[in-house]
Amino acid sequence: MARLIGGMGTSHVPGVGAALDNGKTAEPYWAELFKGFAPLRAWHAENTPDVTIIVFNDHATSMALNHYSTFMLGVAESFRPADEGWGPRKVPDVEGHPELAWHLVESLILDEFDMAVTADFDVDHGLTVPMSIAYDQPDVWPTKVIPLCVNVIQHPQPTALRCYKLGQAIRRAIDSYPDDITVGIWGTGGLSHQLGGERAGVVNPEFDRMFLDNMVNDPMANTRLTHTDFIREAGSEGIEMIMWNVMRGALNEKVREVCRLYHIPVSATAYGGIILEND
Ligand code: DHB
Ligand code: FE
Repeated sequence: MARLIGGMGTSHVPGVGAALDNGKTAEPYWAELFKGFAPLRAWHAENTPDVTIIVFNDHATSMALNHYSTFMLGVAESFRPADEGWGPRKVPDVEGHPELAWHLVESLILDEFDMAVTADFDVDHGLTVPMSIAYDQPDVWPTKVIPLCVNVIQHPQPTALRCYKLGQAIRRAIDSYPDDITVGIWGTGGLSHQLGGERAGVVNPEFDRMFLDNMVNDPMANTRLTHTDFIREAGSEGIEMIMWNVMRGALNEKVREVCRLYHIPVSATAYGGIILEND
């Protein structure tokens, strides 16, 4: 039987990937953040799963807004880093796991989550930056990946509770997969940030810290946050945080916090990261 070994919540700020790709991690602006990644990276080195389900959003990179699904699974053999305007990041292609991906598709749809499915799309910073945060700069990524995209950019987005329930259904799917493999799950995005408009640059450390605390001790509190709560408290892109609820829903009710990092500023946003293991 497949076994879920843990979860990570992490921001996916593109500047973090750019700092790494351009050799700037030792510069004063970035050094403290990258030093802070050390415990996260140590955990990932010790606990690399066979497959990682990465919950992220495509930032209208590979999907145009005329074809944008609420929840979408990637079932391809591999996924290329997307060209987001400056050429694709020079990071390895991401190897998929079609068998588990198709099991997820079947299990989730029979469990009343009507997933969209794609075998052909490039993955943007929402997926590749968390890979770099976890695994630095290897020649080949050490885990296979199943991309799971959530619509957080076009109305109407799924609710925070729906995302949590999707996580619970993913857990049932993992638990019913017959092969003895290990699985990880990441929720990416956030934390509070707004990239344009009057409140561009908004960061709300109190809200972010409450969200992180709830991840550990009171996950249902994070499912009661409305879209308006996110916009008001965390800026217009803060709604990306609902994707962390997918990760949290897949874990046990009781979890152990392995490590946490919260850092301001990172390109006009806050970086948040947390690793949770089933208790
Ligand atoms: C930025 C972009 C993102 O998608 C995000 O989640 C955080 C920050 C940015 O452009 O700075
Ligand atoms: Fe984003």
